[in-house]
Amino acid sequence: MAKKVFIGAAWPYANNSMHLGHVAALIGGDVLARYHRLKGDEVLYVSGSDCYGTPIAVEAEKRGIDPEEIARKYDNEFRQTLCEDLGFSYDIFTNTLTQNHREIVQNNFKNLLAKEKIEEKEVELPYCESCQRFLPDRYIEGECPNCNFKDARGDQCDNCGSILDPKDLVNPRCKACGGRPIFKKSKHFFLKLAEIEPQIKEFISNSSGWRPNAKNFSLKFVEGGLHDRAITRDLEWGINIPIEGYEEKKIYVWFEAVTGYLSASIEWAKESAEEKKWEDFWKDNDAVHYYVHGKDNIPFHTIIWPAILMGLGELKLPDIIVSSEYLTLEGSQFSKSRKHAVWLPDFLKEFDSETLRYYLIANGPETSDADFSWDAFRDKTNNELIGNFANFINRTLSLIKNNFPDGLDFKGEYSEQQNELLSNAVTAHEEIGKKIESTNFRDALKTIFSLAENGNRYLNKNEPWKKIKTDRSEAEKDLLALANVILAICSLIEPFLPKTAKKIAQSVGLESLAWSFGPLDRVAVGDLSLLFEKLEDDKIEEQKEKLKK
Ligand code: MF3
Ligand code: ZN
Repeated sequence: MAKKVFIGAAWPYANNSMHLGHVAALIGGDVLARYHRLKGDEVLYVSGSDCYGTPIAVEAEKRGIDPEEIARKYDNEFRQTLCEDLGFSYDIFTNTLTQNHREIVQNNFKNLLAKEKIEEKEVELPYCESCQRFLPDRYIEGECPNCNFKDARGDQCDNCGSILDPKDLVNPRCKACGGRPIFKKSKHFFLKLAEIEPQIKEFISNSSGWRPNAKNFSLKFVEGGLHDRAITRDLEWGINIPIEGYEEKKIYVWFEAVTGYLSASIEWAKESAEEKKWEDFWKDNDAVHYYVHGKDNIPFHTIIWPAILMGLGELKLPDIIVSSEYLTLEGSQFSKSRKHAVWLPDFLKEFDSETLRYYLIANGPETSDADFSWDAFRDKTNNELIGNFANFINRTLSLIKNNFPDGLDFKGEYSEQQNELLSNAVTAHEEIGKKIESTNFRDALKTIFSLAENGNRYLNKNEPWKKIKTDRSEAEKDLLALANVILAICSLIEPFLPKTAKKIAQSVGLESLAWSFGPLDRVAVGDLSLLFEKLEDDKIEEQKEKLKK
């Protein structure tokens, strides 16, 4: 039966280009969306650019430009790199600057206040006397009280992922001038997490299908007890607080960014001319909601966002949390300041996006950190993607095209060996579908590649190119069985390598794909297209050199 599937992929900060690590964390969302669509499910896959808060404000100050200019620039870049080049099939990719988003955030804020899920408190906050301003989030750094990491920020430690309060930082310093802040009184709104702790605990304990990192981190987090969390900031760049007397302050970026999942759904419905359509996903308890992001995003998706949703009431809570571990680059962390990074726009100028999709799924940081290295990228592309996968498809389709230009027809019966080859392809969708639904994308992709491996083995053993001369009808059956494996692979691979699936479909005359397979009695091969280009050493060496600079 068709399900309603909502997929919320993390909204990248529009303060810089994305690097390959970001893509590794997000790509599972596209696999899920494409898979569920092929299955016939109703999918709503949303994301956008995260445009407010200190990440953008700090960067804009550094570059001496307007925050909105930065946000718009990277928002446009993401639309090109993510949506166009990498082919992420979002039903909507929007941003947090829209009026729609702002209004929904402000309405939710007022609603939560009316329902007493938010309250006002006076607190002491870090203030830099020389810069003459409060120091929210990224404006302040210091030592993390949990892991002793030296450069933790006011709201989160990048090293251990814990959510912090500026008061927790040991030896705090102003990010701009390095001075030691004083603490000054300021009034703010707080999300009342302490009160909702039992429900959050229950929600996390009862969850299933989450990546282990998400469940473990969240359980540990609530074990320590939940504290009310400030959701407003002394900041100029952000969404206004819809309450009188708060003109100088803004809503905390994480409070409003997670609301983007809902506001984007509403924007999508408005555009589709069925204004209430978003409710099918958000008010139907049988819908399934996936959230896809990197591990530093866990508490915002497993605690803050559920708490907001519980406070609002009537809206679907997250079902499956798909948090990735980190991707390293040549064995060490991506770092903008150390210039140790591969930026997505640069990558896409030189290389085929499908090769990146392949690498980042086949070697994805699903349950432990994974590494991107240029040598491994070359080897995986040349040996696995081309040497195994493309090779099987090319060999088979060329043999058919050259020897059976009018197509293959089924005659007689398949041999035991041919039946065995086919039966693997017939059961593949169910097996691989289960792997995708349990978010084991790596394993799913590997299983598809093993079908190609089997096909290559079959070709090598049976040598249909020789048989054509001695037993043409047996060779025809060999090739028909192999062609059917390719038909199966064509839809299986679509969630992972959509452009490749399209090329294969065109060659074998498949007009539409679905998540199922039954062998055909007739297959004809049209034009063949090159699936991937081999990566030459000099091109790879060039990239390695770039990293050394
Ligand atoms: N911008 C955040 C980051 O890059 C992710 C926000 S996810 C959101 O870490 F959907 F909540 F916005
Ligand atoms: Zn300062």
